[in-house]
Amino acid sequence: MKLDITTYMDKFLDKELVKKYSSRKMDVFQKLDTADMNGWLAPDVSFVDDILKVRDRVRSQSSCLVVIGIGGSFLGSCALYSMFTPYFKEQDFKVIFAGTTLSSSYMSELLEYLETVDFSINVISKSGTTMETSLTYSAIKKVMEKKYSREDIKERIIITTDPVKGNLRREVEEEGYSSFVIPDNIGGRYSLLTAAHLFPLSFCLDIKELIEGYFEGIKRRDDAFSYAVIRRSMFDQGKVVENFVTYENNFYYYMEWLKQLFGETEGKNGVGVFPVSMIHTRDLHSLGQFIQEGNKIIYETFFRIKKMKSCDIDGKDLHDMNLLVEDSVISAHVSGGVPCIVLELDEVSPRTLGEVSAFFFLVAAFSGYLFDVDPFNQPGVEVYKSEVRSRL
Ligand code: PA5
Repeated sequence: MKLDITTYMDKFLDKELVKKYSSRKMDVFQKLDTADMNGWLAPDVSFVDDILKVRDRVRSQSSCLVVIGIGGSFLGSCALYSMFTPYFKEQDFKVIFAGTTLSSSYMSELLEYLETVDFSINVISKSGTTMETSLTYSAIKKVMEKKYSREDIKERIIITTDPVKGNLRREVEEEGYSSFVIPDNIGGRYSLLTAAHLFPLSFCLDIKELIEGYFEGIKRRDDAFSYAVIRRSMFDQGKVVENFVTYENNFYYYMEWLKQLFGETEGKNGVGVFPVSMIHTRDLHSLGQFIQEGNKIIYETFFRIKKMKSCDIDGKDLHDMNLLVEDSVISAHVSGGVPCIVLELDEVSPRTLGEVSAFFFLVAAFSGYLFDVDPFNQPGVEVYKSEVRSRL
């Protein structure tokens, strides 16, 4: 992974601001090292072989795993699953992500579909009380109860939740379901290296490689801090929106993952950079106009992938064309007054994605501290929940 935060950024930066925020480095490092919720810095992954055993059992019994979760209990695995699953080729085994909507048409189609296939469930919720997850689990479990015996169901439900507390943990104890743990000191959006994500991901990629990459990325504190300083300075300069840009369609959910990571980490007390994302070249023909000539509240972070599976069109590799367009767009946007950061990955592999994901965790946490907010809570999310409760 190579980070370029100077070439297309330097001339826009107020050096005094950069100096001011850079001087907080040791304070910010210490805050992270002493935080209660910093378990993701050195997560215990000794359960990986258990994950692989349960995965093999699920594969032998079912043709489909329904993963039920939302927010930090969903986005990481969905992001990498969609990146590492073929666009078109039918798969023998399917992972379906559910629990992110209250749409009745979606739910009724899902339930009808599940009546026709052999399936297992992985319900993921740290609290065990999230409305969307609980409703979806209850509806899908009813389908299961119609199709399978109690003994059979015991083999088909896997619960990932708090090690001791909550409804789901109680269910594990009462029913004897297989279970995994989301540790106390790791919050949802920082839980990529817990079973919440590693179990669903074990169906589509080599999770050991992902873990190795992650432990590389988590060493990149200095780079991550520099990136966080740029974000904080950009905000003071009126660049209050960060646009994450990809040239790969299957990065769609990875962009959603980034938006949650930064949105929930920073957006508090009236501050924070608002994260958005675009997929090029599609969005160059829509929002591209705004970026080039509209309100200058935006800076961008481009993902640049050096090597992709080749595709020859009229004697030219399409990926070379994609990179040429990317470089041209960066130049055009810089000339239009939009500062850019470039994050280059050698290739799309579990290792590079593990590395870049750990790196983004660091950036988000440091950025939160530079905004003087707690990077690990999300009190704003509770507000809609209590409004819903009061109306139910
Ligand atoms: O990042 C977070 O902590 C949140 O997005 C949660 O993951 C999300 O609200 C789901 O919570 P839970 O895992 O308790 O169901």
